[in-house]
Amino acid sequence: KGTKKSPTAECLYLEFSHQAEGCIFPLHTSVTLFLLSYCDCEVFNVCLVLTEENADASLPREALPQDLDIHVISRQALPPIVQNCCLPAVVEQPDVFCRAGLAVVLRHIIQKSYEAEPSRKEILELLGFKKTCLKACAEVSQWTRLCELTIPLAVENFLKKSSDQPPTIPEEILQLERKLSEPVRVHNDDKLRRQKLKQQKTAKGKAKSQTDAQQPSKELAGSSKSLELEVAFSKLTVQDPAAAKKEPSHIRKAKASDLPPLEHVFAEGLYFTLADIVLLPCVHHFLVILCREFSEKLQQFPLLASWYQRIQEVPKVKTAASKCGIHFLYLPELLNSESRTHLNSTEAAAGEEPNDPSFTGGPRPTMTKLMEKGIEAIFSPHPCPSWTLDWKNLPAAVSPKEGKMSTDRALRKQQQLNNLAYVVLNQAKPGDRIVDFCSGGGHVGIVLAHMLPSCQVILIENKELSLIRAKKRSDELGLNNIWFIQANMEYFTGMFNIGVALHACGVATDMVIEHCIQMRASFITCPCCYGFIQNTSKFNFPKSEKFKETLSYKEHMILCRFADQTAVQLPPQRRLIGKQCMCLVDMDRATSAEEHGYSVQVISMEPEGCSPKNNMIVGIPI
Ligand SMILES: *[C@@H]1O[C@H](CO)[C@@H](O)[C@H](O)[C@H]1NC(C)=O
Ligand SMILES: *[C@@H]1O[C@H](CO)[C@@H](O)[C@H](O)[C@H]1NC(C)=O
Repeated sequence: KGTKKSPTAECLYLEFSHQAEGCIFPLHTSVTLFLLSYCDCEVFNVCLVLTEENADASLPREALPQDLDIHVISRQALPPIVQNCCLPAVVEQPDVFCRAGLAVVLRHIIQKSYEAEPSRKEILELLGFKKTCLKACAEVSQWTRLCELTIPLAVENFLKKSSDQPPTIPEEILQLERKLSEPVRVHNDDKLRRQKLKQQKTAKGKAKSQTDAQQPSKELAGSSKSLELEVAFSKLTVQDPAAAKKEPSHIRKAKASDLPPLEHVFAEGLYFTLADIVLLPCVHHFLVILCREFSEKLQQFPLLASWYQRIQEVPKVKTAASKCGIHFLYLPELLNSESRTHLNSTEAAAGEEPNDPSFTGGPRPTMTKLMEKGIEAIFSPHPCPSWTLDWKNLPAAVSPKEGKMSTDRALRKQQQLNNLAYVVLNQAKPGDRIVDFCSGGGHVGIVLAHMLPSCQVILIENKELSLIRAKKRSDELGLNNIWFIQANMEYFTGMFNIGVALHACGVATDMVIEHCIQMRASFITCPCCYGFIQNTSKFNFPKSEKFKETLSYKEHMILCRFADQTAVQLPPQRRLIGKQCMCLVDMDRATSAEEHGYSVQVISMEPEGCSPKNNMIVGIPI
């Protein structure tokens, strides 16, 4: 094949720590190489980045796709923007736009490979329905967390330990096995389940007539399993399976709760997606050790084993894998289909929230409880309520007016920016680094970069299109003190002095504050979506010791729920309570930061009408 690389090709940086038994560590690198191989992707300059301690390690040639031209560089040779990010990362010339983190990078590889070879529709199909596969960040999406974090990490630890003593099976793999037993949800769920019901009824009818002839009903198991497989594989070959025929009325009218569940064919459900690509190298290397050291444990993974076999039937997978040194194991017969015990779904029952009567009481009892402990919704005074940027004399591209934004909305956005900018401009010193978290189209970051030419501004945003829009605006202004990073904020590892976030949704605000506290940076955040707040793997609410002493989780959630009721169309009394709840939720956040050595203020932005979500939390390390 001829090279498709242009001189301005993007660079893909992959970490290389070491290799063992044909497996490249970290597994994120193995996974990325496998995807490149599956896509026959040659559009990137691929660089393996060596860590200091293995500067002269030998490269595992057999595990690197042979037709890929790979350079080896040291960490110090990375462009500065990449030195501030987790790998894998992709950078566009001239090194100001970086994509970082496994999921974002893999999705980008898919996009680029497809653009280079639009005839290969199956590449784009990896992104799944509505192209959302692994799009939401790990904090929000179970599958992203599993594929990007927990499974690769668990398998890496397992492989490390296996050299000395019998390792324990990672809980995360057991969890994956359980996930494969959960019923599948797809967008045309109902239709498919009705087809399955029909097949089952037909098969039962046949089985009945066969029992007289002493025939074991082999067909029953066979046909009831095949609907999912049929649908899954038809997608891989031709676009649309047979056009749907109208179902007989007993099928059409069957209650949704009586329909049979769909079973997993691939990781996320029926279709082969990016999630399968990620899991393949991980699960393969896990199985290699498992089969060699204690093959009897294989029985604990019937679903994973049948997934592992099915995935080999997907066109191009075997070839792509073998190019990366992944040679599929032959798993013993016992694991095929029949041992697929039908686990009862425990998830179905756990799904529904208990209807707690104490929720009907509203927020007043909770607020009273706090008041008895001396905690009241009181804002810190605004440092300068009437201050505003000189919008009229700023270049047009600095103003938040892009797209279909109404003049009214643009005005309110300007008012919000006045509040944030005032605090940041007073905090910033020449040479400071300022990070705009959840930057969206760059409303905050671009103003700051323009106003503070001696500071470096870094926009971090998970949504590609927003960040591309921001870059365009920045280019119009000719800004040269700004970086764009498409990544989960946690994959930005660089130091910085000030973190800002305008309307970071739900716990994203808490992630921003935590990131700032870790770097001992000041923070200026304006939260939103209080109703989305809930415990996550990282945070529990209430956050501060002081609130925890007084409020239970549920009581705190009442505050969060009512904090969202500040929309202009609501009655003034409701809005007032909403605003008080908002204040209390943010006071908990503030108190928690104070417990980490910060001086924190919860301020109401001016004018109040600039947004229904008009709180600002300002924290400065002391
Ligand atoms: C599944 O649940 C049904 C009824 O809820 C029960 O009869 C059956 O024994 C369960 N099967 C397993 C494998 O737990
Ligand atoms: C959330 O975390 C708190 C504190 O650890 C705990 O008390 C509460 O039960 C948790 N709530 C849920 C629903 O997980």
